Amino acid sequence: MYGDDIASVLITEDQIKAKIEELAELVAKRYPPDAPEGDLLLIGVLKGAIFFMTDFARALPIPTQLEFMAVSSYGSSTSSSGVVRIMKDLDKDIAGRNVLIVEDIIDSGLTLSWLLRNLATRNPASLEVVTLLRKPDALRTPVEVAHVGFDIPNEFVVGYGLDYAERYRDLPYIGTLDPKVYS
Ligand code: XMP
Ligand code: MG
Repeated sequence: MYGDDIASVLITEDQIKAKIEELAELVAKRYPPDAPEGDLLLIGVLKGAIFFMTDFARALPIPTQLEFMAVSSYGSSTSSSGVVRIMKDLDKDIAGRNVLIVEDIIDSGLTLSWLLRNLATRNPASLEVVTLLRKPDALRTPVEVAHVGFDIPNEFVVGYGLDYAERYRDLPYIGTLDPKVYS
């Protein structure tokens, strides 16, 4: 698939699966079942988080409800500007709910920090983040993230939901792109 576009596999399918089991166990401990706030509300950030969201929700041993938001951050295709626009908002009110944002990747952190501020104004009972990937060397703003799957080098990655120009999302692993793809 995709010929030799993928330069290297950074995280295998098996590693992703094992990490999701681990994250799910940790996260579930924070939310008692039958909480007065109701089922944990997972908010997936489209489109990158779709595969992580569905695998993570099924790994969690507690009931969850699934909502999606789509945001776009202006800037070049491989870096974030921090200016965020909501393309698809939530359909539901989150006031009084336990909310967990499910992200694919925290790169500069600008998108997430904007999203956290936006959702906080809607008065959820709690608001936390789980992200599959984080690039610690790329962070440009401090963001509080309770749960991180993998810290990765500051390289553009694709697969398992992450795209370059909408391609490669369907790869079951996370890989780096051959530079020839950009040029
Ligand atoms: P930041 O944290 O910089 O990231 O605001 C915002 C969004 O940009 C996308 N992103 C990536 N997508 N490979 C991708 O396919 C990457 O290496 C990458 N880094 C950032 C992603 O949607 C993230 O939520
Ligand atoms: Mg994203």
